[in-house]
Amino acid sequence: MSDKLAIKVTKAAHSKLPNVDFENLPFGKTFSDHMLIGTYADGAWKDFEIVPFGDISLSPAISALHYGQTFFEGLKAYRHDDGKISVFRPDKNAKRFNISAERMCMPTLPEEMFIESIAKLVDIDRDWVPSKEGYTMYIRPFMFATDPYLGVAPSTTYKFMVLVCPTGAYFSKNLNVKIETEYTRSAEGGFGYAKAAGNYAGSLFPGKKASEKGFDQILWTDAKTHEYVEEMGAANAMFVINGKLVTPSTRDTILDGVTRDSIITLAKSWGMEVEERRVAVAEVLEAIENGTCTDAFGAGTAATIASVAEMYHNGKTYVLPDPSKSEFANKMRKALDDIKYGRVEDTRGWNYMI
Ligand code: PLP
Ligand code: COI
Repeated sequence: MSDKLAIKVTKAAHSKLPNVDFENLPFGKTFSDHMLIGTYADGAWKDFEIVPFGDISLSPAISALHYGQTFFEGLKAYRHDDGKISVFRPDKNAKRFNISAERMCMPTLPEEMFIESIAKLVDIDRDWVPSKEGYTMYIRPFMFATDPYLGVAPSTTYKFMVLVCPTGAYFSKNLNVKIETEYTRSAEGGFGYAKAAGNYAGSLFPGKKASEKGFDQILWTDAKTHEYVEEMGAANAMFVINGKLVTPSTRDTILDGVTRDSIITLAKSWGMEVEERRVAVAEVLEAIENGTCTDAFGAGTAATIASVAEMYHNGKTYVLPDPSKSEFANKMRKALDDIKYGRVEDTRGWNYMI
């Protein structure tokens, strides 16, 4: 960690840490003592500050609230067995942050400012990084438009903020997934590849309908035909078919996941064949039926590797082999954790030490 960016720090008078039950940390509900906030105005980023976590005051007319000019990132910090703390591949999130910014017509943030902001906040709240196996500190950077103007136009002022929360697993069980044939998450020419808030807002209603029918997640399909796999909930969809790792190639409807990239890199390093291409729903279902699909999972920062137990499509349920016995997903989970928790040498420079 370097200290190039001037960040003013105002410490919280009292830490909430003694009141936190580290044995019980549902995802995204417990926030640390501090948060970071920076301002974009007059064409420049300025006034980066770490302040006590708390409410902020904003005009009710800000365009983020009315037109959704806002997006976010998600990454995690890990406590190694020797107490050191690292953040996993923040350079990838910094790049994707700016891809989202550009698509949402918002200012980019120099990558080193993104990384320094996160590093400083995690360092100040380093006692909040859990040490229990399977627990991490989730880091949520986000940007939103703050012009108090009701015209539909790009804002000229913005806030960049970072929150951190100690957290347990996002999913507690293997997933029962509905292959979506009515709604879509994103369409060609849209902004599915950006981590824009609107992508998630639009997924809530189909998600609620699926949940009411007993499904845990939606496997999103392409907007035009619903015949090709896109993503799995808020994670990338990946399969092992005939011993090959198969995943939809990224394009404008799909978020280019850091977990997906890490899994592809490791699988290739093991000599496994990897196919990034269009993946037909029919191909996956046939492979489940004839036993050649041995793994299906969602890959994401919050989701980690979330294995699928069952898939439902047009009135029929397809049962995957028992995920607890999956050779690939279990080996990959361990390989990724070994790197993130510093249990093996980090040969690719994926751990950013705090
Ligand atoms: N796809 C969507 C829509 C997501 O929200 C996420 C989560 O961030 C991912 C994929 C996985 O991306 P990553 O592995 O970078 O977290
Ligand atoms: C993440 O994995 O960081 C995500 O963005 C998922 C989130 C929407 C809970």
